[in-house]
Amino acid sequence: MAEPILEVSGLVKHYPLMRGILFKKQIGAVKAVDGVDFTLGKGETLGIVGESGCGKSTVARMLCNLERPTAGSIRFKGEDITRLSGRALKAVRRNIQMVFQDPYTSLNPRMTVGDIIGEPYEIHPEVAPKGDRRRRVRELLDVVGLNPEYINRYPHQFSGGQRQRIGIARGLALRPEVIVADEPVSALDVSVQAQVINLLDRLQSEFDLSYVFIAHDLSIVRHISDRVGVMYLGRIVEIGSDAEIYEHPTHPYTQALLSAVPVPDPEAREHRERIILTGDVPSPTAIPSGCRFRTRCWKAQERCVQEVPALAVPAEFRQAGGPAAHDSACHFAETLPIGRSAPGLPPAPEESPKPARNGNGPG
Ligand SMILES: Nc1ncnc2c1ncn2[C@@H]1O[C@H](COP(=O)(O)OP(=O)(O)OP(=O)(O)O)[C@@H](O)[C@H]1O
Ligand code: SF4
Ligand SMILES: [Mg+2]
Repeated sequence: MAEPILEVSGLVKHYPLMRGILFKKQIGAVKAVDGVDFTLGKGETLGIVGESGCGKSTVARMLCNLERPTAGSIRFKGEDITRLSGRALKAVRRNIQMVFQDPYTSLNPRMTVGDIIGEPYEIHPEVAPKGDRRRRVRELLDVVGLNPEYINRYPHQFSGGQRQRIGIARGLALRPEVIVADEPVSALDVSVQAQVINLLDRLQSEFDLSYVFIAHDLSIVRHISDRVGVMYLGRIVEIGSDAEIYEHPTHPYTQALLSAVPVPDPEAREHRERIILTGDVPSPTAIPSGCRFRTRCWKAQERCVQEVPALAVPAEFRQAGGPAAHDSACHFAETLPIGRSAPGLPPAPEESPKPARNGNGPG
């Protein structure tokens, strides 16, 4: 991996659950993020996928310092930004910018596009002197493929895809080194999604950016990511290069997610098996003991109830190396043919007997 630009370690965000009107008492916590570790290399794109509510946006907000973690560290170029305050924090914040999901609600409808894109300069006047801001905003509009003459228009005069371009231009205004994009294309039509992804791709090389790209659509994440982390209930359960995750997943949750991705090739479709997960995602206020996925895992055993699996290269793959030797938080990690028939790949020969997938794990 390239030299790290962000190093996230033991990141936790617990929201206290309170009861009572006059005398408030904490009765528990929403464990939105519960121990996340990853590294983002310079110039790299790390995709983060996972079902709704698994904590993706909470991670994004902490990376951009919009929210303080309960515990853990976020190192930007070696410096723990969770410990900074005042001027030092402000200076680092400039370097990590966010692009939001919904271009319909994230832009102030009463501000012109020029004011929206130029607003970050009010907080960081050192980046652009007042007299130069309009020129810079026009330049940014041009960079994201919008007509600089639109500078005085309002958000409602643009389409969804154009609005997301405005959001991206705003994210670029301070010349950040890292962009955290939280579901940047999820609210857009499929035809527009590709255009915005291509734009992000182009900007990455043009501005030497590193991306954390969050989405729940596995195909989109694969398209843009160098590495992918799969989140479940506040933690990353598997992480590796896109080929490792999509073609050689070893965690049952990743295997289930991938088995649900539509495959255009009919032959590949025929050869693969859909894993249907039973049961609901547990509440983040009551995370299961041991492996947090065990209540929905068809392979769960007693050890999974007792012992939290570490996110590490499983012992059975460590010696042999190869693409299955990547971090996976499972006591019984194994490859399944299912992963080989991920989008756009040829069907895989049968390798191991198919597991029974009709029961829930213990407890
Ligand atoms: N301010 C808050 N107070 C209490 N709970 C919160 C707060 N913010 C988020 N949560 C809870 O934390 C969990 C994770 O939320 P988060 O928005 O990070 O998930 P997500 O993975 O981004 O989901 P989605 O795919 O729907 O955007 C959810 O259960 C959510 O209800
Ligand atoms: S540790 Fe156990 S419950 Fe968790 S994913 Fe692996 S087999 Fe399933
Ligand atoms: Mg979210």
